[in-house]
Amino acid sequence: MEIVKGGMVCGPEGCVLKTEPDTSVDLLGIELDNPVIPASGTFGFGKEFKDLYDINILGTFSFKGTTLEPRFGNPTPRIAETPNGMINAVGLQNPGVIAVRDRELPEMKEFFHKPVMANVSGFAVDEYQKTVELLCGQDQIGWFEVNISCPNVHGGGMAFGTDPAMAQKVTEAVKKVADKPVIMKLSPNVTDITEIAKACEAGGADGLSLINTLLGMRIDLKTKKPVIANTMGGFSGSAILPVALRMVYQVYNTVNLPIIGMGGVSSAKDVIEMMLAGATAVGVGAANLTDPFASKKIIGFMATGRQNMCVFQALLDRSDSSERFTESSAVRATGSVSLRWAS
Ligand SMILES: Cc1cc2nc3c(=O)[nH]c(=O)nc-3n(C[C@H](O)[C@H](O)[C@H](O)COP(=O)(O)O)c2cc1C
Repeated sequence: MEIVKGGMVCGPEGCVLKTEPDTSVDLLGIELDNPVIPASGTFGFGKEFKDLYDINILGTFSFKGTTLEPRFGNPTPRIAETPNGMINAVGLQNPGVIAVRDRELPEMKEFFHKPVMANVSGFAVDEYQKTVELLCGQDQIGWFEVNISCPNVHGGGMAFGTDPAMAQKVTEAVKKVADKPVIMKLSPNVTDITEIAKACEAGGADGLSLINTLLGMRIDLKTKKPVIANTMGGFSGSAILPVALRMVYQVYNTVNLPIIGMGGVSSAKDVIEMMLAGATAVGVGAANLTDPFASKKIIGFMATGRQNMCVFQALLDRSDSSERFTESSAVRATGSVSLRWAS
């Protein structure tokens, strides 16, 4: 018997792609052509990649973490390699919100024609609020992604994302002024990430993104000193995928908010795994730095890689939600946990 799933026709011999697959997902009222979102800090303001490929193929991207004042970032060296990953301590280098609004966004309009995700950070609750306020009224922005999880700055960033009361306060302050959906970006550097997720939900968050980087360090055997000038930095890349999946899964089963899942995603299979764990859309970070075409390749494989598309199409076939999940071995392994899907 043949089963038709989106662009696939599946029979006992397997699935054949018959039509262009539909990889679109809905992220808080905006339809993305596909769930792939280059993660903040690994895609600049888009111009760094625009000459390599047409970045309009992306679902969207999250621009570099923006603060109220311009920031030069941390002293160098601020990058260290690790097996299957990297450590960074860039320290939120950015030109400041006014330059982002008045220079980066108008420039971006010339080459990126989709709503972009505005990633903002701060060192005090009112700084977060002011930064978001200054970005209100910009048609190009589709969502605010509020970073309460940066491990590379002192007295801000992660300090807000490791304390539920502070996480709720920042969420409430930003929600008061934001004219677009607010997605709170969570830190993995906590004992129980679901506590922070619940606090953000209580504060009125529209969505969550997770995970930011894990605090890590490396030591240079010749100098016997930390490789990174800042001593510690944020560990990311494919090595952290299992941790990220676990946290997305935990948060998905705790709160009722759409999730952008990220952390270690570097292939179309990883995207599917993230979505099986509960993500509505998926961020790709360090992979863009090791291969600038990584996001493009992932999207290309979703559209043409037949084996993966079989699973992916089954996931996205909105008319077939029960079968979609019972078919998945990953979900079967979780027993009675019921998975929902953002429609
Ligand atoms: C070099 C670098 C800079 C980053 N800068 C930011 C940032 O400005 N704001 C933010 O929210 N996350 C930032 N991140 C975190 C990523 O967006 C992402 O959450 C994290 O790296 C996990 O994904 P990955 O394993 O795919 O890299 C940065 C990551 C890297 C590697």
